[in-house]
Amino acid sequence: MYRTHTCGELRLKHAGQQVTLAGWVHRRRDHGGIVFLDLRDRYGVTQVVFNPDLPKEMLETLDAVRLEWVLQIHGVVQRRPSGMENPNLTTGEIEVIADQIKVLNPSKTPPLLIRRKNDESEELRLKYRYLDLRRERMTRNLILRHRVVKFMRDYLDQQGFIEIETPILFKATPEGARDYLVPSRLHPGMFYALPQSPQQLKQLLMIAGQDRYFQIARCFRDEDLRGDRQPEFTQLDLEMSFVERDDVLDLVEGLYNALIPAVSPHKKILYQPWPKLSYREAMERYGTDKPDIRFGMELIDVSDLFVQSEFRVFQTALAEGGVIKSIVVPGCADYSRKEVDGLVEMAKSLGAKGLVAVGVTAEGPKGSAAKFFRAEEWQGVQERTGAKAGDLILFAADARPVVNKALGALRLHFRDTLNLVDKDVLAFLWVVDFPMFAWNEEEQRWEAEHHPFTMPRLEDLDKFDADPGAILSDAYDMVCNGYEMASGSIRIHRRDIQFKIFQLLGLSEDEIQSKFGHMLEAFEYGAPPHGGMAPGIDRLVMLLADEPNIREVIAFPKNQNARDVMADAPSTVSEQQLKELHIRVVDED
Ligand code: AMO
Ligand code: AMP
Repeated sequence: MYRTHTCGELRLKHAGQQVTLAGWVHRRRDHGGIVFLDLRDRYGVTQVVFNPDLPKEMLETLDAVRLEWVLQIHGVVQRRPSGMENPNLTTGEIEVIADQIKVLNPSKTPPLLIRRKNDESEELRLKYRYLDLRRERMTRNLILRHRVVKFMRDYLDQQGFIEIETPILFKATPEGARDYLVPSRLHPGMFYALPQSPQQLKQLLMIAGQDRYFQIARCFRDEDLRGDRQPEFTQLDLEMSFVERDDVLDLVEGLYNALIPAVSPHKKILYQPWPKLSYREAMERYGTDKPDIRFGMELIDVSDLFVQSEFRVFQTALAEGGVIKSIVVPGCADYSRKEVDGLVEMAKSLGAKGLVAVGVTAEGPKGSAAKFFRAEEWQGVQERTGAKAGDLILFAADARPVVNKALGALRLHFRDTLNLVDKDVLAFLWVVDFPMFAWNEEEQRWEAEHHPFTMPRLEDLDKFDADPGAILSDAYDMVCNGYEMASGSIRIHRRDIQFKIFQLLGLSEDEIQSKFGHMLEAFEYGAPPHGGMAPGIDRLVMLLADEPNIREVIAFPKNQNARDVMADAPSTVSEQQLKELHIRVVDED
């Protein structure tokens, strides 16, 4: 037997017991003959004491022991001398008086000091991830992630869902990213695509009569990475038959409202039931479809107050069909010229032409643009916005999307700089009534805002020729604290509608057949009405763990360049392998 207890287990009640522990040397202290080793494993740290009267060969072994050596230690548990207790350790009331030591494996000097806060470069942490993961914080994140996933599985099982695995080697499923392709050895020149999500497969499972499906599903997307994006990530993928939108939303809301108190009791869910905002309302009030509603500072439309304005900036925007919107920054009326210039620069970098900043004082508006405000305009603004003396009002005048984007981002800037939110508050909401199509400026074509399997509002479909952007769909997002946490929709279950949507997206009949023929055919064999959703697990655990990015809650993430720097992947392969796969690598230059 390697051990009788773990390094996090011993308490006062074990005093007097003979124990064997196994673990890593976390810390070593030599105190004039007495040596203290802190022995660590996943469960905790235990202080082990070596007295100078131990046999000589044992003292020699001990002498060689360094950080991160793996040891087995036998000894007697003893209450620590009074005053020597360590309240920061769960085992802090006791220590083990060693009488045997065995080196199970020595260690080179580790490039990371495990007990230190992980403030080395991320590259170093990722290269030695197996050392980084020895840290308490990382272990805590892995355990939290495990608890989240286990809770989801148990909860959904109770609700009649079954977990079904779907293939990783499959066919392209569009979710808006590039595919990862896998060349086929048996079929020269042909490729599997790794699923960007199990979207088609879960719909096929509904057609297969499985009624309530879920899967802790790995998804693969070759896209630009950022803090909340990885090339492979995990979704709680789920799908339900014979449901309407609110059946799906209620199920997932119920899951999250039960999950969070169970795994992260210190987190507070701000609103229950969760508010529902239409996409349009979210854009108008917060300038984004993933609003952080933990704080106010909403975007307020003041266009109508300035129809008579002589201020050129406002006149021009209105004349060009744009809008004037404002946000009120509490207590910042005294911003210096330099601070205001910084905000203007920020607005410009977000695509706006500028920003008008006006301070509110008891005497009236303050700032370089104040002179352009007529008395009734200023009064109207104050009434509409509720701004008080001491506040700063920022105005942007431009096309509606430009104004929303700039003020929406400034709002988040003030959230962070003025400390307007509590990180332990989770403000969940649903964003509903998304447009079906979004205009892709780069490729100059319409694409599905969610994905092409989403049910459009059928009564809207005849708008396609006149105004495709006005067609709404039955898609929804779960949003929390400014992050998109999940997406889903009621799906198309009729062949004719699905075919029409593919056509509207610009696919030819041949393309539709070769890419999605299997789906269209399946729709002809009694597809039930169905819908579902996919919450991102990495993002949820990131929020619950108060981590700044999802790499901290993934055991072996890729770096920002989509590389695994520990195993050094991707890497080159042998000529032989390439030949078998019928692949020739050509230098591009
Ligand atoms: P969608 O593409 O919106 O929808 O993804 C759903 C959720 O998955 C998470 N997510 C990511 N997390 C980490 N890294 C990424 N690169 C990444 N991309 C997405 C987000 C997101 O909200 N099949 C549909 C769902 C459905 O319709 O049921 C889908 O995949 O939290
Ligand atoms: P200009 O005359 O372009 O130098 O702009 C005068 C002031 O109005 C500057 O503070 C600009 O930042 C601001 N401004 C210019 N265009 C806009 C706009 N579209 N919306 C809000 N403020 C603007």
